[in-house]
Amino acid sequence: MKHVISSRDFDIETLNRFLKTTKEFERNDGPFFLKPKILATLFFEPSTRTRLSFESAMIRLGGHCIGVADGQSSSTQKGESIYDTIRTVEGYADIIVIRHPIDGTARLASEAIKLNTPIINAGDGSNQHITQTLTDLYSIHKHFGKIDGIKIGYIGDLKYGRTVHSLIHALSMFDDVEHFFMPADSTLDIEEDHIRSIRHQKSHSIKTLEEMMEKLDVLYVTRLQKERYPDPMEFNRVAAKYRITPQSIEKRKEKMIILHPLPRNDEIDKTVDDMSCAKYFDQAHNGVIVRKTLLYHLIEIGEI
Ligand code: NCD
Repeated sequence: MKHVISSRDFDIETLNRFLKTTKEFERNDGPFFLKPKILATLFFEPSTRTRLSFESAMIRLGGHCIGVADGQSSSTQKGESIYDTIRTVEGYADIIVIRHPIDGTARLASEAIKLNTPIINAGDGSNQHITQTLTDLYSIHKHFGKIDGIKIGYIGDLKYGRTVHSLIHALSMFDDVEHFFMPADSTLDIEEDHIRSIRHQKSHSIKTLEEMMEKLDVLYVTRLQKERYPDPMEFNRVAAKYRITPQSIEKRKEKMIILHPLPRNDEIDKTVDDMSCAKYFDQAHNGVIVRKTLLYHLIEIGEI
């Protein structure tokens, strides 16, 4: 792969190889570019972790960063198309990372490329968020030493949350993963298209946290995607419906971990943060080494 757009483009060998190399890089504090390279970040939607961890990774590799942190400040405001933006920026950078509110934009961007500059999807609408998925897989693997056989529960916005969509496609490639879905509301349930990719694995719809707590290895919490929810009046009713507290996870397995791609709103009570099962800030930190590995491969080796 020269561009990294979707977890559907990966196979299990590539995922396993990637996790292994990331672990080696983390252990050796490497690698570095021989000659400085430039990363362009084009963010047409807000971001803290994804953009800053990409920039941190690039700088740690010995590279430099340029970018648009806000669509309002680029020429898209003057009506420029993504095609023209990409045809321009590909001449300014060795690699381009793009986030956009419309599903499919990163793929479109990769088709516009003429100069061999790799494109990485940093989230397109409610579709995919592949680098978050690689970070999630790495975080799970780091804790359990494996991914095969894990039981994972997803809670929150399973309809519009791209991190869940991306993650379940990747997990469908591992052996015996079991999925538990607990949407915050019936309007936020996971769609059939995503379930199709895990048909060969066990999956369950769950109504209460207690029902799944004793079984889970990973509790994957997401915020409600207010910006994508169609009815702002209805949103507040839905938003008040779920919250992780120390009491609600009392029945957890000893090694169970809580992941969250962040940002969080009110769905995890702050009193959970100091519990040993709360791994979401470690997960955010793992994003740097994961993105470092990805950038190094695409720029220095030319593919992943
Ligand atoms: C997620 C995203 O942007 O999809 N955040 C992230 O990249 N770490 C999740 C979210 O916005 O809810």
